[in-house]
Amino acid sequence: MGTKGIEIVGMNVDELVTMLNKAFADEWLAHYQYWLGAKVAKGPMKEAVIAELLQHAADELRHAEMLTTRIIQLGGTPVTTPKKWFDMTNCGYDAPDDPQVKPLLDQNIKGEQCAITTYKKMLQATQTGDPVTHNIALQILQDEVEHEEDLQSLLEDYDVMMKSR
Ligand SMILES: [Fe+2]
Ligand SMILES: [Fe+2]
Repeated sequence: MGTKGIEIVGMNVDELVTMLNKAFADEWLAHYQYWLGAKVAKGPMKEAVIAELLQHAADELRHAEMLTTRIIQLGGTPVTTPKKWFDMTNCGYDAPDDPQVKPLLDQNIKGEQCAITTYKKMLQATQTGDPVTHNIALQILQDEVEHEEDLQSLLEDYDVMMKSR
């Protein structure tokens, strides 16, 4: 906890920490969803899909690290138990129960779109009150926008390939 670092925050710090913890829960759930999706994936183009999902899983874990660092800087406590992830999450968790490539891509695109909405809101909420969190939200948002596009272009390729069969 840095006293001057907290003093310059021009918004309610508890609310800010809660917002960060909710996103932190999202990132862990997304990390696990994508990581497990990569393990179970089946069907056409699975090699490309697995590579992308593993990359995204690593990015979501990095996002969780960025958020937890900020939570601690603000004197907050990162969610201490995975059970609470489900109470805190904005975007939920879609189990990869159907391991076929298309449903996996659909699920994960939905997850990325929810993440984009979450970080857009965080950007707006911190616009004037907390430049440090604002900057973190911007960096993560850039990754989530890239993730959505990566998955949608894989889905496009998949659809083209299935039509030409
Ligand atoms: Fe993320
Ligand atoms: Fe993502």
